[in-house]
Parts: sequence; C-alpha cells; structure tokens
Amino acid sequence: MSERVLITGGAGFIGRRVTENLLRRGYRVRILDSFVEQVHGPRRTLPDALADVEAIPGDVRDEDALRKALAGIDSVLHLAAEVGVGQSMYAIERYVSANDLGTAALLERLAHKPVRRVVVASSMSVYGEGLYIDRDGNPVEDAERSNAVSLSWDPVDASGAPMIPAATPEWKRPNLASVYALTKFVQEQMTLTVTAAYGMEGVALRLFNVYGPGQALSNPYTGVLAIFASRLANGKPPLVFEDGRQRRDFVHVDDVAEAFALALEHPKAAGKIYNIGSGQDRSVLQVAEMLAAAMNKAEIAPEVSGKGRKGDVRHCFADTSKAEKELGFVARQDFTQGLAALAEWAAGQQAHDRIAEARSELEKRGLVA
Ligand code: UD1
Repeated sequence: MSERVLITGGAGFIGRRVTENLLRRGYRVRILDSFVEQVHGPRRTLPDALADVEAIPGDVRDEDALRKALAGIDSVLHLAAEVGVGQSMYAIERYVSANDLGTAALLERLAHKPVRRVVVASSMSVYGEGLYIDRDGNPVEDAERSNAVSLSWDPVDASGAPMIPAATPEWKRPNLASVYALTKFVQEQMTLTVTAAYGMEGVALRLFNVYGPGQALSNPYTGVLAIFASRLANGKPPLVFEDGRQRRDFVHVDDVAEAFALALEHPKAAGKIYNIGSGQDRSVLQVAEMLAAAMNKAEIAPEVSGKGRKGDVRHCFADTSKAEKELGFVARQDFTQGLAALAEWAAGQQAHDRIAEARSELEKRGLVA
C-alpha cells in the first residue's frame, strides 16, 4: 500500500509541484492550505491539474482543520509559511505566528500520533551572507557588509580588500538577519528536535532562490525573477538593486519538487539538513537580461539603481554536495529552458505590478536603504 502524505501549503507555488511529483510516484496525497489572498489572488482553488487531490482549506493553527488533515497520514511535508523577507520586518506577529506557532501546532499534534517522517521547507535566508574566502584562502563564516570601510558592495576583510564569495555549505554558521530567517531557523530546528524526541524522522531542506512557472507574479514579496517577470510583462524595466553583480543560486521548482521526494524517501536523510540549489551561481543583472530575452523584450534594458535594499545579502549560493552525495539530488533543469518556461507562463498571466505598493510599505517604515 502506498504511503499517504500530507503536504501543508500544497496549493502554493512549490507545494503544487511537490504534489504533482508525489502523485507521479504513486503516493496518496492530501493538501492542507489556507489559500491566502496575497499568494492565490481572488481565485482560491487548486489548479485544474490537481482537481482530484483531496484539499482541506485551512490553517495549520486551526485545530479542527489540522486534525482532519492528519487523519490516516504516514508522512508530512511542511511547506505552509509566510514567505516575504521584507514584509516579515513589519508584519512580525503574523510571520512568527504562521511560521513558528504553525509548526509548533503541527508538531504537537504529531507528538500525540507520530508519523514516519516530517520534511520541513527551510531557507537559505538562515545563512545571511554566504561563505567567503579571505586573502589567505581561509573560509570566513561571518562576513558582513560595512559601507563605512569600503566603497564596494562586497564584504571586505580587515584590510579593506573585498573577499571572494564561495559556495555555502550547510555547516556555515547561521546569521539570522530578518524575522523571516529567524522563523525559518526555528521551524527547521523545532522539527528536528521534536521528531527525534518522538521517534519520527525529521529532515530540513534549505531552499535557495526557487523560480519557475506558477510563481505568484502579483505577490511583490516573492523572488526577484517573479518581480522582474511582472515588470517586463507590464513593459517596465527590471529594477536592479546595487550594481547587479550580487550572486544567487536560482533553482527550478521542478528540481525542488524532486528534492522533496528524495528527502521523503531516502533512509540517509533522517535528522539531516540539506541545501537545495542548482549548484550554479549567477548575477542578478545577468538573470534580468536573460529573462528579458526569454520574454522577447530584450530591448528593455534593466535599470541598475545603485541603491541597496536593507537587509539584503551580497552573495549567497549553494554548495549542494551533501544533497548530491546523500540524497542523490542533482538539479537537472537547464536555466535557459527554465526561463523560457517562466516567460511562456508569465505571458499567459495577468501580472499586476504591485512592486511600487510594496516598496512604499517598506519606505514608510524606513526599511529601504
Ligand atoms: C530572500 C530570502 C530567501 C527567500 C527569498 C524569496 C534572504 C537572504 N533570502 O532571498 O530565503 O526565499 O527572499 O522570498 O533573505 N533584487 C533586485 N530587484 C528587485 C528585487 C530583488 O535587484 O526588484 C535583488 C535583490 O537585491 C537580491 C536579489 O535580487 O540581491 C535576490 O532577491 P530576492 O529574490 O528577493 O531573494 P533573496 O534576497 O536572495
């Protein structure tokens, strides 16, 4: 008999792809999702492709909904969360409540009736700045940007020389620079602690910058590619912060879905934390140009603002060797093809550019540099 898996947040951008992946593998899937308007817009239903999946509308903090959702379940993938880093800095109670109390409610229920495995979606945001290498070739775990020391956007060493960014491994010390990062760290640690105490297997996936079709284009608090796609779809140039040379790891949502399946299945994963990225780093300026080309809007050049966003890290990209070695995870989606798929999807969407609105929310509160 195949396992019955509950996916919290299963109607979201990542959750939907995870659901599809598990269905293909023969799992029986149930979704618990609160269908929040900021993500789903006014149409609060599952897409047609998932019409046959059992979906319970509700929040993990709602006792009744949670009890119903967990009935007869063998394993849980916990993706339900508030996801905006900037927004977390003013909607503090909402973020801590949804992410940490939400996880607490789920785990407390599971303590009464344990399941085999709980996989939680964590985030690269727990690292703060990624790993750097100093002039002598030593790894630096606590790099920070100090505009007072240098005119460069890059973190510098004691002598003022910029350091070299390196792929960030799971062992790098966390540096929790936003309320969002704090809540994600609490989610992963709480999951690992409570599952271990009750004989369950906990796994945490630190997702890097996830992109792909289905990304909530009108939610101004999601990732940069959705924001750029929404700008371009409205004929506006992508607004690039800093000098555009900041580097990230953009991982396709289908690769992430595969990572969740492996994390659910692999015996070695129990009790572990894994980076999930593509293993390739790219600059924000480069991806702005590539996306414009993919959307047939190459004539719209990105606008490099030369201004930073408060709380942004300069570079962070994944060392994925642990996930590769232990889970057999390798990101397979080609970036250019992934952008083409995002572009095609975006073309069929009505993207309301709410970036200006979101920016003024942050500005009002002094949260933009
Ligand atoms: C953050 C979180 C990450 C979360 C993601 C999406 C951190 C370190 N990481 O990643 O966990 O999954 O948000 O919520 O907090 N940029 C522009 N123009 C824009 C928007 C962004 O140039 O209009 C730049 C940013 O300055 C940044 C890069 O693009 O350098 C990526 O930004 P974003 O997609 O928001 O994600 P992160 O900050 O990397």
